[in-house]
Amino acid sequence: MKKIISAVLAGAMMCSAAVAFAGCGGSKNDSSSKTDDSKSATSDSASTNDEATADSAGANGTLHMATNAFFEPYEYYENQKIVGIDAEIAEAVCDKLGYSLVIDDMDFDSIITAVQSGKADFGMAGMTVTEERMQAIDFTDTYTNAIQVIIVKEGSDKVKSSEDFATSTIGVQMGTTGDIYVTDFEEKGAVVERFNKGADAVLALTQDKVDAVVIDNEPAKAFVAQNEGLTILEEPFENEEYAICVAKGSELTEKINGALKQLKEEGKIDEIIKKYIKA
Ligand code: ARG
Repeated sequence: MKKIISAVLAGAMMCSAAVAFAGCGGSKNDSSSKTDDSKSATSDSASTNDEATADSAGANGTLHMATNAFFEPYEYYENQKIVGIDAEIAEAVCDKLGYSLVIDDMDFDSIITAVQSGKADFGMAGMTVTEERMQAIDFTDTYTNAIQVIIVKEGSDKVKSSEDFATSTIGVQMGTTGDIYVTDFEEKGAVVERFNKGADAVLALTQDKVDAVVIDNEPAKAFVAQNEGLTILEEPFENEEYAICVAKGSELTEKINGALKQLKEEGKIDEIIKKYIKA
């Protein structure tokens, strides 16, 4: 809870910055996605989301999306605005459904709680569909897929494949499928360092505090492009599928699925993905 509150506050601060520089929470059409927070949404729409529940999703014409915006190319900051594949798909879904979109940035492992409690109407964060998560929330249809990869320092022979995990220190983003994956290696001797952001895990790698980072393939490529001296190991991990999560039993599932179906048929999903991921 504390985490969510501080994340909302951080969001509020970023938003004031965005107001100064980019006009945070401007009209619906002025951007494909927005950095925003619940508080500014309240002033924007002159209604309150404080008592939001699963049943009141979108009651004031606005859908709140919970995400963790340090996951390029799916969600990340550009000029104080959250952009990326998820942000744009969410905007397109909201357009189809006649809602305006507000994106709330928080820790990845707070997203499901935010959606369960109705603080957010849906979660979209390059989130992999897993059986365990399905106990807590519902998933829409999937919109893309991914695999976990291992990032290591170029020229390092400490970790050549997951077979070396047992004798290594591995960095992951807390609560992600990468985290779940390496947790299995803990009993074999692996030391797992869990970070709030994938970027912090990568920073630890560049500082030799961990020997490898396990993270989704596209963010991994972005991190390797931004940090010299890192490389991705080719190891076939299980295929994962990303979907949007909503509160259990929410009528939003069907609505979002309808919008996703149309967007897929129109080629819009592919177009958004191609915009951010060059073949
Ligand atoms: N696909 C992974 C998972 O679902 C990682 C997602 C991390 N997303 C983020 N926006 N930080 O666990």
